Amino acid sequence: MYENWKELEQSIIHCQKCKLCQNRTNIVFGTGNKEAKVMLIGEGPGADEDKEGIPFVGKAGQLMNKALTGLGLNREELYIANIVKCRPPSNRVPEQDEAQACLDYLRNQVVLVKPKIIVLLGSTALKNILGKEYGITSARGTWVEKKGIFYMPTWHPAALLRDENKKIEFWNDLKEVKKKLENLV
Ligand code: URA
Repeated sequence: MYENWKELEQSIIHCQKCKLCQNRTNIVFGTGNKEAKVMLIGEGPGADEDKEGIPFVGKAGQLMNKALTGLGLNREELYIANIVKCRPPSNRVPEQDEAQACLDYLRNQVVLVKPKIIVLLGSTALKNILGKEYGITSARGTWVEKKGIFYMPTWHPAALLRDENKKIEFWNDLKEVKKKLENLV
């Protein structure tokens, strides 16, 4: 566990802990406010993120940004990261060994940011953070509190591009996040 961002970032630069390192253009470390009260965790970089080295800059990310901005949850106030930091080939779901290899980095980021709320974007984030027993369809929209952190599971933004009905649920889940955040401060 690294006690400062510089050491953590340095430790990742040449990471070869799993096979995803073989095809990456950039490591997508994470971005945003390092003292954010709200952290968002996605699955893994897609093609656009791999190219730019920034999470959620592609189509799904733009849709998510729109919802966040609409609710006054600006990206600059949040911290955004993923379960894995390198792009899985053809955007497949990260395999167990890949997620396991990368999770220590994410845990270190959580320790440094100290968020009060973590939004879990989709099944991969939910299962890797809260446990395999959780399913996104039943868990989304319901708070889970663990060790003083409030977790809100919701749809992955890419799912909204495939299913219009999920947009309203995603919006409602983010509204809950906004409400909780306002009650914290
Ligand atoms: N999907 C994710 O899960 N994360 C990203 O950064 C982009 C797309």
